Amino acid sequence: MCGIVGYIGNRDAYEVIVKGLKRLEYRGYDSAGIALSKDDHLQLYKKQGKVKDLEDFIGESDKTGTLGIGHTRWATHGPPNDTNAHPHTSTDGSLAIIHNGIIENYSSIKQELINKGHTFQSDTDTEVVVHFIEDIQKNNNCSLDEAVRLALNKIVGAYAILVISKDNPNQMIAARKGSPLVIGVGRGEYFLASDATPIVEYTNEVIYLNDYEIAVISREEILIRSIQDVPTTPYIQTLDLELEAIEKGGFDHFMLKEIFEQPKALRDAMRGRLNAEKGYLVLGGIREYANRLINADRIIILACGTSWHAGLVAEYFFEDFCRIPVEVEYASEFRYRNPVIREGDVVIAISQSGETADTLAAIELARSKGSIIFGVCNVVGSSIARATHEGAYIHAGPEIGVASTKAFTGQLTVLIMMALRVAYKKGTISERRYHELLVEMETIPSKVEKALELNDEILKISEMFKDARNFLYLGRGYNFPVALEGALKLKEISYIHAEGYPAAEMKHGPIALIDEEMPVVFIATSDSSYEKIISNIQEVKARKGKVIAVVTEGDRLIPKMADFVIEVPKTHEAIMPLVSVIPLQLLSYHIAVLRGCNVDQPRNLAKSVTVE
Ligand code: G6P
Repeated sequence: MCGIVGYIGNRDAYEVIVKGLKRLEYRGYDSAGIALSKDDHLQLYKKQGKVKDLEDFIGESDKTGTLGIGHTRWATHGPPNDTNAHPHTSTDGSLAIIHNGIIENYSSIKQELINKGHTFQSDTDTEVVVHFIEDIQKNNNCSLDEAVRLALNKIVGAYAILVISKDNPNQMIAARKGSPLVIGVGRGEYFLASDATPIVEYTNEVIYLNDYEIAVISREEILIRSIQDVPTTPYIQTLDLELEAIEKGGFDHFMLKEIFEQPKALRDAMRGRLNAEKGYLVLGGIREYANRLINADRIIILACGTSWHAGLVAEYFFEDFCRIPVEVEYASEFRYRNPVIREGDVVIAISQSGETADTLAAIELARSKGSIIFGVCNVVGSSIARATHEGAYIHAGPEIGVASTKAFTGQLTVLIMMALRVAYKKGTISERRYHELLVEMETIPSKVEKALELNDEILKISEMFKDARNFLYLGRGYNFPVALEGALKLKEISYIHAEGYPAAEMKHGPIALIDEEMPVVFIATSDSSYEKIISNIQEVKARKGKVIAVVTEGDRLIPKMADFVIEVPKTHEAIMPLVSVIPLQLLSYHIAVLRGCNVDQPRNLAKSVTVE
């Protein structure tokens, strides 16, 4: 949430920053701002709206300067408006700051500063930080970086900050705790950003700043130390990211591009890990603690949003194949309970971004109780990937559309591989079934390709339902979490109210909503609950609901009952979610586009939720 960009070097900072902010807009897009260092002052521009609105606002105004910072906001403290937009400045305007995160003790610091005569323009926690730094610098008569360090020792919360001063046009100060910050290293120039996407076109050498570290950056060098004042040696890594992976590549939206990237993403997730012919299945990132997983008495899965839905499917995998009991927890609830974690429990944390604040905090809680934690993340080097003991990346490539698509199927792919590996080692799966499933997994990318061929057909169905006010999604067994995911996709990007339910639960409530106005999407592929779901379809039809059914190719019964049928390729019941979710992603995408919604940047949402 919130994207931050900084540049120091010899290029036009404005160009680098605006381009960077556009790449980070998925993190928040309710207002944006820039501060440029100019001879003896800071030039500030801020505007409510998207980065484009900021650009239009700046127009032909002075944009020169080779040092600057920029921010795209997802409002936490105070509504989205020009004043609350970052950067924020100190009382005398000599310091400017941008911030991603939340300062928890800002109100007590603010009160102290007000008592000392400070006045504030905005409602934000961030403005308090810059005033606090200013105050400390004046009282201690110290350097700016020392004032930042002292301030951060008093600050409670999460932050990635960049601070610049009009008095030093050759210095930028960066610090982080809990929110991401990457520093691109060029020749005589540095690029700073919330993730690597604004950096990759300039350099592939990066430093991931660690929690509690402060970097003092000039054109000549970068010095890093901890907030306890212990110097550290920067570790420069090579980025494994292609520019084309973060561009739309001819698609109208990132979401559509990412939906269509799934066959490749799933092949990448399995590459070098699974080979059915050789009976080979290995997850290189899970070695040292593999036995803890194999011998686990219970698995606790922690996640949020779509990743939580992937966790629900994984519950079926681990219970079905490994006979290990599984609890799937919303990270946000888990962290505030007093959860029972026993010695034999292991935790699997699932997160696309690897930055979700609740998931990170839940991991810390589990760790403090002695748990071994496995991560299933997409973003390499992310906070969650680093906070876990071991794990497996999904290798889906950058996911930029706010609605998660290829990360979901990538997560399922990794989780099924984990479960199969554990089951094989435990001996809870027969050789035959294990091999059948490996073979089937290898066919999945081409089955997903086939499901994507349904795009035009789904567009037509979307046209029929684009004005619906409600939607119900129903599934059973492995397809129940898919129903939840289908409903989430629709509501988040088209703003149509949608609910996902286990189909059998319909009669305990949602059936009351069914009339001729209510579209009901059944995920009714041919599996062990097929007969049961047919009864549920009939119950809906008896009440004049409109049924859209996702079925297995060749199904003869459901087409006779449903109003619209979407046929997906046949696969094993456990693997079906990888295929049955595809039409639901396309349905939500087309409905949202037809309704004129901003598919990649839906209102109020952000891709990476770094606040709780
Ligand atoms: C946000 C995103 C969702 C995502 C969820 C969890 O709500 O919009 O797409 O599923 O966060 O994010 P994570 O990065 O932890 O998977």
